Amino acid sequence: MRSGGVNSKLSDLITRDVTLATAKISSSHLCAIPTETVYGLAANAADSSAVQRVFQAKGRPTDHPLIVHVQNLEIAKRWLPDLPEWSIALADHFWPGPLTIVGARSHLATDFVTAGQNTVAVRVPHHPVVQELLRELSCHGILGLVAPSANKFGHVSPTTAEHVRDDLGEYLSQHSDVILDGGPCEVGLESTIVLATGDQPVILRPGAITSDDIYEVTGITPSINQDSATKVSGNLASHYSPRARVELIVGENAMEYSSPAGFLALSDSLTPIDLVRLASPKNTEEFATILYAALREGDRLNLPVIYVKVPSEGKLSTALLDRLGRAAHQGDFH
Ligand code: TXA
Ligand code: MG
Repeated sequence: MRSGGVNSKLSDLITRDVTLATAKISSSHLCAIPTETVYGLAANAADSSAVQRVFQAKGRPTDHPLIVHVQNLEIAKRWLPDLPEWSIALADHFWPGPLTIVGARSHLATDFVTAGQNTVAVRVPHHPVVQELLRELSCHGILGLVAPSANKFGHVSPTTAEHVRDDLGEYLSQHSDVILDGGPCEVGLESTIVLATGDQPVILRPGAITSDDIYEVTGITPSINQDSATKVSGNLASHYSPRARVELIVGENAMEYSSPAGFLALSDSLTPIDLVRLASPKNTEEFATILYAALREGDRLNLPVIYVKVPSEGKLSTALLDRLGRAAHQGDFH
């Protein structure tokens, strides 16, 4: 049990004050930030001790590189000076938005951000609160924020400020860090990551920007990442995992359900007898938006199993299946 004192400190953690967030980041503190995808745990990308604390807070291995969040394409080019033409077209079209580009790094991207790789991942988020924060930070000469998802390593990503507090609240309040509240995330799944070091886009992590979207803008068919040497922690077989065991229902297969258990499916699916309905999204987009909150709700109810009927159609179905496959994997994090 937490003491009342710790609880009241935990409630002070969440703020809507962008100027306070700017002051915290400028003075080497961490600040969880809202983005359109998921909440990130941000630090000044040029501040090695603050970046080290991001790894510490998450319990993330230090050989996993971070994404740098910047205000616009012009600043992104200072981190990524050698982008191929096709990727500039992509950035121009989808930034600000849920797209991360990995390319050859400039001197701005240090080893403590890239984990020693000669590439750096950069994204321009479109959430208005983080855009305002990046604008204020640029007045202090801060050109980029590292921001991995603001959860404990391997756990479900947070899509509200309260989720961040549930995972990292004690650590953040002990260090006088803050959580900037921008409301629930719109997309709900992490950004699409595209490797841009050659003639062809390579999708390292699927997201809301799909392979078809990339083809439409670049005229080039992307390939899907086969390179297990590239450190993409979201590509570990087990990731995005709640405490509950996740069981996927694919197609119309008849299943035997154990209970107690949670159930998550589109609103046109009836809840099997004895299962606890966790959410009833109307379409695939809404499914993606509420997925992580629903998995967290299953844990809050102490359900040992969550059955998930995965939508097979819609723009976000590839990304959803990717995340749910990892959430369902019985691996290192159970
Ligand atoms: O939507 C998102 O991308 C969220 C929000 C907060 O922006 N961020 C996020 O960060 O998902 P994170 O750290 O949880 O996932 C970033 C992924 C990791 O799998 C990491 O390994 C990969 O990006 N990554 C970072 N730099 C890379 C690089 N140079 N080469 C290949 N993969 C890289
Ligand atoms: Mg993550």
